[in-house]
Amino acid sequence: MRFNPLHHPCTFMIAQMLNIGSGWLEHIPFAFLLIDLARPNLLVELGTYKGDSYCGFCQAIAALRLPTKCFAIDSWQGDPHMGVLPQDVLAYLRKYHDPLYGSFSTLVPETFDQAVAHFDDGSIDVLHIDGTHTFEAVQHDFQTWRPKLSDKAIILLHDTAVMDEGFGVYKFWEQIHTQYPSFEFKHGHGLGILGVGKSLPAKFAEFLEDATADPQAMRDCFAILGERNDIQCWLIGVLQALNQQYKFLNQFKQQIGVPADAAMEDFQQALKDPFAYATRMTRELQVLISDDVALRKHILQNPQPGK
Ligand SMILES: C[S@@+](CC[C@H](N)C(=O)[O-])C[C@H]1O[C@@H](n2cnc3c(N)ncnc32)[C@H](O)[C@@H]1O
Repeated sequence: MRFNPLHHPCTFMIAQMLNIGSGWLEHIPFAFLLIDLARPNLLVELGTYKGDSYCGFCQAIAALRLPTKCFAIDSWQGDPHMGVLPQDVLAYLRKYHDPLYGSFSTLVPETFDQAVAHFDDGSIDVLHIDGTHTFEAVQHDFQTWRPKLSDKAIILLHDTAVMDEGFGVYKFWEQIHTQYPSFEFKHGHGLGILGVGKSLPAKFAEFLEDATADPQAMRDCFAILGERNDIQCWLIGVLQALNQQYKFLNQFKQQIGVPADAAMEDFQQALKDPFAYATRMTRELQVLISDDVALRKHILQNPQPGK
């Protein structure tokens, strides 16, 4: 094997944007690696939603200080499988994305068919297709965007392992994967990787050859790395639940004459030191089961340990 993940430490970064329930969580380590292997000049994503995959690409580009330009294209209106999206999804993503990645990345609220005209033929080095998942839609997106791909181009197709009613990426993958150098991760709903360009980046080509030579080893490695994001997301879910309770606790504090603690309601702040946050919150929430008002006041006014 020539591919050695230790030569690509960005693979092991902690993902900064994780949304509970995202089907992409387990592929973020590979997104990090792909950016290092491909070092694209131009990356385009079709289907961004809350931004888990896209912010994974952007995080690696920022960490590696690459000159890559990125575009996330989504109507942010939803599709037959997602249903209609809540109205604030794009605004929420912008709030997170723009300060961190706005210097090199643009969120484009258009349909894929509208946006394709913005790109020159032969310009895109990495294209991630994750829009509507019917066979016809994926085939259409692939064919519409194919002329835009550079001679280094790599395509990712998500949900190649989903065979539920209406999902057809797996059928498209069956047809397309034999036409190019390719590899498929089976975990995380399946991720198909196609080396479409005639002059693939050398490190990426080595990765594909090694993955093809020992597919199970590569699949196991990235499935285990991906699981870490499930666990991290689980922790975020617990903290969100605690955070919700804390808002009630603040109301209670005010009722018994203890000043409310706005900092404890700042969830982004909490994520910087989740262990201390959880410890302190758990301790403070314990007072709710105490009948002793003096004890409650004492504990709430002396929030050590874990402040
Ligand atoms: C499965 S989600 C994308 C998931 C995302 N990659 C992630 O990491 O969570 C599919 C998205 O594609 C968008 N979409 C589907 N078909 C589209 C089209 N033809 N034009 C624009 N957006 C589309 C939907 O609005 C939805 O947000």
